[in-house]
Amino acid sequence: MANRAIAQHDRRAKGIDGDQLLNALTTALLAINQQNVIIYANTATEQLFRSSADHMLNKPLTAFLPKDSPVFALIEQVRSQRSIVSEYGLTLETPRIGINFMNIQATPVVEQPGIVALTLQQRSIADKIDRQLTHRGAARSVTAMAAMLAHEVKNPLSGIRGAAQLLEQNANDEDRPLTELIRDEADRICDLVDRMGVFSDTGPLQREAVNIHQVLDRVHKLAKNGFGSHLKFVNEFDPSLPAVLGNRDQLVQVFLNLVKNASESAPKINGQITLSTAYQQGVRFAVPNSDKRVHLPLQISVSDNGSGIPDDLKPYLFDPFVTSKPQGTGLGLALVAKIIGDHGGVIECDSNSKKTTFRIILPMFSTTQDT
Ligand SMILES: Nc1ncnc2c1ncn2[C@@H]1O[C@H](COP(=O)(O)OP(=O)(O)OP(=O)(O)O)[C@@H](O)[C@H]1O
Ligand SMILES: [Mg+2]
Repeated sequence: MANRAIAQHDRRAKGIDGDQLLNALTTALLAINQQNVIIYANTATEQLFRSSADHMLNKPLTAFLPKDSPVFALIEQVRSQRSIVSEYGLTLETPRIGINFMNIQATPVVEQPGIVALTLQQRSIADKIDRQLTHRGAARSVTAMAAMLAHEVKNPLSGIRGAAQLLEQNANDEDRPLTELIRDEADRICDLVDRMGVFSDTGPLQREAVNIHQVLDRVHKLAKNGFGSHLKFVNEFDPSLPAVLGNRDQLVQVFLNLVKNASESAPKINGQITLSTAYQQGVRFAVPNSDKRVHLPLQISVSDNGSGIPDDLKPYLFDPFVTSKPQGTGLGLALVAKIIGDHGGVIECDSNSKKTTFRIILPMFSTTQDT
């Protein structure tokens, strides 16, 4: 014990105050006793919970986190195992702090049984981008399935469709609706397989200088004359926007999917969709696993005034087959994420109960191709 005290003493030079050090941390650090009552909170904890240490001390942790928060399960695990437990990307939700993605570590304080130290670290933007890369991974796992579907489903399907068409020629009035049903449903499955086909990697992407306003105009026209005819469209274009380095057809697909989602979410009455573009000089992103930084100056966003994305869907938004619509395939946003990823761009989403915005940032076309 004496040795231990000496070791602790040695760790701290004269004039250094441990409390000042803990308050200098950007990681929230708090300690709770056996009854889950807060007995220590550093400055970062005050900021995270938007509450002063005075107010937090001697209060139960349940005053700041909902009783069913996964943090309590972590704490119990620490007490029963007497070892450190870490959880990455935990969703912390409270009325005061909103929804936060956190990395949380719970550590038993060995010298004082029952006391648990908790560190809570907010996930950074880099982390969010990392998550987006995981979505790309998820899209990639669909690739093999897409290839299999195209081969094993589409070919026999065209046989079924042809047979239904032949039967239709000689069918009586009673049977004709049935043959039509076979044909229509076969077409629907074919469409689905075609959409999945985009996930299969078909060699290097043909890229050129694309005027994004022409892409948006086309999407606007398609929407206005079809699924979005009841909506008001507002275009806020920056006329000096330089060309995007990209594939025109794929970019049309991207914005068609975003505008379709927006129109499905906007209210039937007074529904509005805003398409906007802007040039941002200083936006640079680190490329994961490399020291390269890319310049992504072109911003294009699609907003709607619908009631927003359900919270439970947000973390999985870009994963394939995630949908809240009875007739949805959940492939739209997975496809968008895959195409934007292939273009070296980033997609972000901001959504609340009054407005949802999908923002895409893309590299600029340059004659040297050095973005
Ligand atoms: N603008 C938006 N407002 C509210 N929710 C949205 C919006 N865009 C997407 N979502 C939510 O994300 C889910 C996934 O969208 P995605 O486009 O991938 O599939 P989908 O629209 O359901 O199906 P599909 O695109 O195949 O018709 C949607 O079901 C919806 O719940
Ligand atoms: Mg969709």
